[in-house]
Amino acid sequence: MKIDILLGLQWGDEGKGKIVDAISPDYDIIARFQGGPNAGHSLEFNNIKHVLHLIPSGIFHPDKLNIIGNGVVIDPAVFRKEITELGPTVDELIKRLIISTRANLILPSHRILDAAYESQKGLTKIGSTLKGIGPAYTDKTSRNGLRVGDILRKDFRELYDTHVKRHMTMLKNYDLKFDLNEYEKGWFDGIEMLKKFRIVNTEYLVNEHANKGKRILAEGAQGTMLDVDFGSYPFVTSSNTISAGACTGLGISPKLIGDIFGIFKAYCTRVGSGPFPTELCDETGASMRNIGREFGSTTGRPRRCGWLDLPALKYSIMINGVTKLFMTKADVMSGFKIIKICTSYKVDGKECLEIPFNNDSIIEPVYTELPGWEEDISGTREFSKLPESLKIFVEFIENHTGVPVTMVSVGPDREETIFRA
Ligand code: GDP
Ligand code: IMO
Ligand code: MG
Repeated sequence: MKIDILLGLQWGDEGKGKIVDAISPDYDIIARFQGGPNAGHSLEFNNIKHVLHLIPSGIFHPDKLNIIGNGVVIDPAVFRKEITELGPTVDELIKRLIISTRANLILPSHRILDAAYESQKGLTKIGSTLKGIGPAYTDKTSRNGLRVGDILRKDFRELYDTHVKRHMTMLKNYDLKFDLNEYEKGWFDGIEMLKKFRIVNTEYLVNEHANKGKRILAEGAQGTMLDVDFGSYPFVTSSNTISAGACTGLGISPKLIGDIFGIFKAYCTRVGSGPFPTELCDETGASMRNIGREFGSTTGRPRRCGWLDLPALKYSIMINGVTKLFMTKADVMSGFKIIKICTSYKVDGKECLEIPFNNDSIIEPVYTELPGWEEDISGTREFSKLPESLKIFVEFIENHTGVPVTMVSVGPDREETIFRA
């Protein structure tokens, strides 16, 4: 059976957690393939909101298997906290969750290095979540990482000390006060928690299950515009957030990929620094933030808000090979008299359909205006019953992207989801 991928097409926080949870009943396995605790995936049911950072968003379905793949970077302290606060007992979660031997570990000193690098950047800082993501992936690619499978080694503590020693040498170059011990206790408690779970070569598991006809959903973190290769570098995260990342992050062939679900908000948000052509620093942007409750799930920071950006969306669709579009937060747009959609850019005064390579260009969005709608749509469950203006908005996106919008989300709860045949 082919493996489907669900990933973000904008700057993260598109609603991946909600939708993965909502479509989990269609799958046997849900597998995270990249990112780490920088992610914050929210989902709601029975009036309770859960925010997941490392654990795949299928975890609340008792009969599903969840996998943390080799492409993910794991902070054991965050893992332990998440496991203990989730709701189901640890014994129950052990049955539902398997972790890759090859996933790299985020060490306490990676978090300190993250803070050191950011503090040195001054005005050009990335606005990192400071969870140690960049330094952990750097150690992975420079072949200096520690991996989950290593925690089972007898000499793990010595290995750990060697890594920390190297990091401490690097930190001498920075004028930063820190207390490593403060992080370490929770980190080693986390290692003990990790050891309770099944730690296996998940690439075999995923391939075997796919070959046996099991239905697998690969869950992305962050968004395409934060991809380390194709995002607005250097204002990006440190992993490949795109569909290709699912192959390297789970150990599967591109031949095994089925549908690629690209998820986007009816508008745009970005948390952290970096270019955002359609950003609204006015009342309209503030309304989007208030109505859409646009505050970071991981850091609580206010998210920057702006109109839907089609050049960026089309770029993401191209890079990922998106087969179906899922639009979230349609309900947030109710009440806006006019809805703008950016259809092209003027870069340094000239019309341009491409995403510029550098961040110095002055990008001016060219907008089309569509009529808004007044109705509260959060109770609507059929596409045909949505306001005409919203249907026109959806059709406009489909015409410009050439990809069908097969799902519209009208609220944060798993029930507030409209699937189109
Ligand atoms: P993720 O990182 O892509 O999983 O997204 P986040 O969970 O960080 O942010 C999405 C936010 O929007 C969360 O607070 C969700 O509960 C919420 N959300 C998701 N879909 C919808 C929707 O269709 N309408 C509204 N109003 N909120 C939504
Ligand atoms: P989910 O999975 C939104 C942003 C940070 C920062 C940049 C680099 O919830 O969509 P990092 O911590 O990786 O060093 O931060 O990327 N960022 C996210 N923004 N959603 C996320 O994840 C993000 N993960 C990282 O704000 O600008
Ligand atoms: Mg998020």
